[in-house]
Amino acid sequence: MHGNGRKKLEIYKMRKKILITGGAGFIGSHVVRLFVNKYPEYDIVNLDYLTYAGNLGNIKDVVEAPNYSFEKLDIADASAVNALFKEQHFDGIIHLAAESHVDRSIENPMSFVLTNVIGTVNLLNAAREQWKGKMDGKRFYHISTDEVYGSLGKEGFFLETTAYDPNSPYSASKASSDHFVRSYGETYDLPYVLTNCSNNYGPNQFPEKLIPLFINNIRNNKSLPVYGDGMYTRDWLYVLDHALAIDLVYHSGKNTETYNIGGFNEWTNIDLIRLLCGIMDKKLGRAEGTSVKLITYVKDRPGHDRRYAIDASKINEELGWKPTVTFQEGLAATVQWYLENEEWLNSVTSGDYQNYYSSMYSKRS
Ligand code: NAD
Ligand code: DAU
Repeated sequence: MHGNGRKKLEIYKMRKKILITGGAGFIGSHVVRLFVNKYPEYDIVNLDYLTYAGNLGNIKDVVEAPNYSFEKLDIADASAVNALFKEQHFDGIIHLAAESHVDRSIENPMSFVLTNVIGTVNLLNAAREQWKGKMDGKRFYHISTDEVYGSLGKEGFFLETTAYDPNSPYSASKASSDHFVRSYGETYDLPYVLTNCSNNYGPNQFPEKLIPLFINNIRNNKSLPVYGDGMYTRDWLYVLDHALAIDLVYHSGKNTETYNIGGFNEWTNIDLIRLLCGIMDKKLGRAEGTSVKLITYVKDRPGHDRRYAIDASKINEELGWKPTVTFQEGLAATVQWYLENEEWLNSVTSGDYQNYYSSMYSKRS
């Protein structure tokens, strides 16, 4: 065989097909973009049901790439999942698809059971069937959350060994899916890896979550509904740093291991909101102190976890990961993105969003 032919054959042999679920959502879209651009030798299949949180506009820059394809499918539908796995063979699965908003889980827990628990088990079953007798080199990577560990007091951090203690239907559904993933490893030798990450922020996050919701409200001069006393604490990580961690764990993490991912960046909600108000005032050319006047304390979230904080030293020491973006840089870039993408923001906040907002927040006044 001549040089060119051999090179083509080698590239063909190296080609791997990776299924990324939830790739039209917030974090998934950043992971899809990273993998499509960084690994031309991989075929990336994006599986997403395009719920209210999924938007192909989030990845419009990669949808034409030759190594990208899309499957619209509900992971809670076992026959649809099995049909996809009959048609296509995957070397790896990076599973992000989920119902992800705590407040929605309080209103409608069953949709979280269907997607997060049953959907994950459907994927595990399909992977197990497809990889039977040839698990070598395969990997099921389950993306989870620090919320499975419950709530911390003033001191301490979540470690990989911290006992699960979920408090919301969302975190209970994620905890359940984590347990199923582990159990498939123990029982059927399914090669898996798991990460539990802290709060993400950045471009393309649906404006139901704190930061994009408050950016949108400030832009529209609407009140800023702070739950309870505003002294709840979260550990914030820029979404691109999460995507980089996922890349690293997918390629270098050890099977059956869990890695915690966090920003080393704890903020009480009220301090974060004040910081955001200041950045928004500057960007919008408003007088200093204008946006903080929109802060309104409202009825608390039931079962509200007081504090999350991740000890990310395992992924740092074993795989060399650490955040690359400071909170000041990340928050400024995030505000800039939302202000430059008003069309995106207007389109996702029209229609159903208005009904969601009034039904969710009328209860809190
Ligand atoms: P998201 O809500 O922005 O996106 C979820 C995506 O999943 C959407 O594109 C949606 O269309 C898709 N989806 C929902 N139900 C589906 C179904 N039944 N079948 C197929 N697709 C479906 O969520 P996100 O914030 O990007 O979170 C992604 C993952 O990361 C989730 O598993 C979440 O638990 C986890 N996580 C999120 C954070 C965070 O701060 N956002 C932190 C840690 C872990
Ligand atoms: O910790 C990781 C988790 O972070 C992810 O698993 C979840 O998918 C993600 O939604 C996020 O959960 P939180 O509940 O921490 O995020 P949220 O943005 O909903 O809220 C952040 C904090 O802000 C929390 O203490 C509640 C508060 N809050 C939130 C909203 C939407 C308010 O005070 N007012 C609001 O309107």
